[in-house]
Amino acid sequence: MGRLDEAFIQAPEHRPITHLTNSGDFIFSDEIPTIDLSSLQDPNYDKTTIATEVGKACERWGFFQVINHGLPLDLRRRVENTAAEFFNLTAEEKRRLRRDEVNPMGYHDEEHTKNVRDWKEIFDFFLQDPTIVPATPEPEDTDKRELTNQWPQHPADFREICQEYAREVEKLAFKILELISISLGLPGDLLSGYFQEQTSILRFNHYPPCPNPELALGVGRHKDGGALTVLAQDSVGGLQVGRRSDGEWIPVKPIPDALIINIGNCMQVWTNDKYWSAEHRVVVNTSKERFSVPFFFFPSHETNIEPLEELLSEENPPCYKKCNWGKFFVSRNRSDFKKLEVEDIQIDHFKA
Ligand code: OGA
Ligand code: NI
Repeated sequence: MGRLDEAFIQAPEHRPITHLTNSGDFIFSDEIPTIDLSSLQDPNYDKTTIATEVGKACERWGFFQVINHGLPLDLRRRVENTAAEFFNLTAEEKRRLRRDEVNPMGYHDEEHTKNVRDWKEIFDFFLQDPTIVPATPEPEDTDKRELTNQWPQHPADFREICQEYAREVEKLAFKILELISISLGLPGDLLSGYFQEQTSILRFNHYPPCPNPELALGVGRHKDGGALTVLAQDSVGGLQVGRRSDGEWIPVKPIPDALIINIGNCMQVWTNDKYWSAEHRVVVNTSKERFSVPFFFFPSHETNIEPLEELLSEENPPCYKKCNWGKFFVSRNRSDFKKLEVEDIQIDHFKA
């Protein structure tokens, strides 16, 4: 790309210190919890022990990794390979699938976060394909009608692999949702009702090597807007999390075959700030391209996002106003999760 285009340059206070050692590898911190889910495979296992661990991680970090999560590893390999193959298509082929003003699904290489361009290209699709699920007939509901998945012709099995992976990662997301409910002292299925006609998205991220990693970011600092995110990252590293206690940027260590879970804004609102939607960002480097596959677990359109009544009390009054997810999701200006007092919770992901 030659000299770094101005659009990518971060303001000095947001430029990364890239945690590089002499060998060029990132230094990783072990502080972010890793949780072993293997005992969930035993149907007689009491889930409260794992749920407690999950709850602590959601509270302190809003981020954790899971191992022995049950997502088939061969499927993960296939989806990673197909994503790499997809990004290897010519720019012209990818641009044919380019998202536009009305349809946010497909290919995109001009993502901006907080008005600075991200050093990456992406591909997005809805899990519940709006071309299969009939759109609502009301003529005023234009935003919904125009959403449709776009699929490339190559790789030939791209769509099939994507959808198979999406089904598996969705199953894991429901398991995590159950653990989170239990961790809050609520019935395990309390939250799952909000996801019957979910608006979830699977994304492929490709971060090419960058000539000036000290000036740009793969993704600028942001919070994820949905309930939670399940992220598969490769072995390169670059994801950093703002620590809840002091805002320090902590790198997330790549653990082979682990998946990263992070809490999104909906969950922070439901739990009335008990659980934390952490700011995170991605640093890039000069030599290695990086791939990641986030699954954004989003509730149904009709879901109202507000603090759960079961968690409120005189000592814990609601800190957020009610907000309808569907309206929020299709609105161009996504900053609707309003604190009743203090500042707005900033949401700039999926700004459509
Ligand atoms: C995102 C994101 C992190 C990563 O796509 O929202 O935060 O490691 N990605 O790619
Ligand atoms: Ni994110």
